[in-house]
Amino acid sequence: MSDFKQEMISNAHTLEQALESYLPQKDEFPEKLHEAMRYSTLTGGKRLRPIMVMKTAEFFGMPFEKVLPTACGIEMIHTYSLIHDDLPVMDNDDFRRGKPTCHRVYGDALALLAGDALLTHAFTTIAKNSKIEGVATDAVIDVIEKVSLAAGGYGMIGGQTIDIISSGHEIDKNTLYYISNHKTGCLISISLWSGARLAGAPKEDLNKIKRFGEIIGLIFQIVDDILDIKGNEKLMGKPTGSDIKNKKNTFTHIVGYGDSIKLVNELSLQAKEIVRNYKHNNFFINLTDFFTERTY
Ligand code: IPE
Ligand code: IPE
Ligand code: MG
Ligand code: MG
Ligand code: MG
Repeated sequence: MSDFKQEMISNAHTLEQALESYLPQKDEFPEKLHEAMRYSTLTGGKRLRPIMVMKTAEFFGMPFEKVLPTACGIEMIHTYSLIHDDLPVMDNDDFRRGKPTCHRVYGDALALLAGDALLTHAFTTIAKNSKIEGVATDAVIDVIEKVSLAAGGYGMIGGQTIDIISSGHEIDKNTLYYISNHKTGCLISISLWSGARLAGAPKEDLNKIKRFGEIIGLIFQIVDDILDIKGNEKLMGKPTGSDIKNKKNTFTHIVGYGDSIKLVNELSLQAKEIVRNYKHNNFFINLTDFFTERTY
């Protein structure tokens, strides 16, 4: 296994320990809700977004331990988006993170509510970052503003909306880009930005990191569309063929399979160009390669 992958596993482990303590405990009332929240959040995810928060903070000089509340909050938002994305009224999928989806275990209503509670608890958790020594309160407020924008109607939910209402209809390439950039790119990009902002990175770097995040976010969704066709369900922990079943407007459908692969490689070069002049840029380069080549 590469050093990068080994490091990702170790970071994921640290993150999961923090997540376990920031989430409501199983024996707290209402137990069923908390059980459902923990069921979907605690096992199986790659933890890419929180690791991006942690590693970017570290890159700009702040120990990753100091940004764990924000990292956990972003993972809660991501998990909520997966729970709702899988619901019968959305993509109607039965498998996620290597196990039955939240609604298959707890029912649609509890899955809906577990998602709602994860989204709100995310901001309770991110706000706790202001209590950590060395982290500026105005940076935490900026993060709350930007993360909520990225997750809401101007961001991820905007993308999910157009994804859903355009299913089964022809769309142009601009709309296709809008969907991917918003449903997936926004949260990925803001994860990197948040780590940088909490670490006190200058504005110029914040913009650079955000742009880098937008490009790798797009790579991430194009590869997700490719994997829906050629991926291995066991490895990914989620079903293939979901997009075809739902007549989704994916990159493979609109741009074509071969051209989607070409596009991913072009975007990968663009992303690396942005961080090329940074010293010690290994994490960003390895992350771009992982996003480009991933099989799960
Ligand atoms: C899946 O995200 C949803 C998309 C944005 C395509 P991930 O592939 O990061 O899911 P987990 O967190 O590893 O389960
Ligand atoms: C979902 O995109 C993006 C989210 C905001 C959850 P997909 O619907 O393609 O994600 P998967 O393939 O179910 O993970
Ligand atoms: Mg979807
Ligand atoms: Mg889906
Ligand atoms: Mg998908």
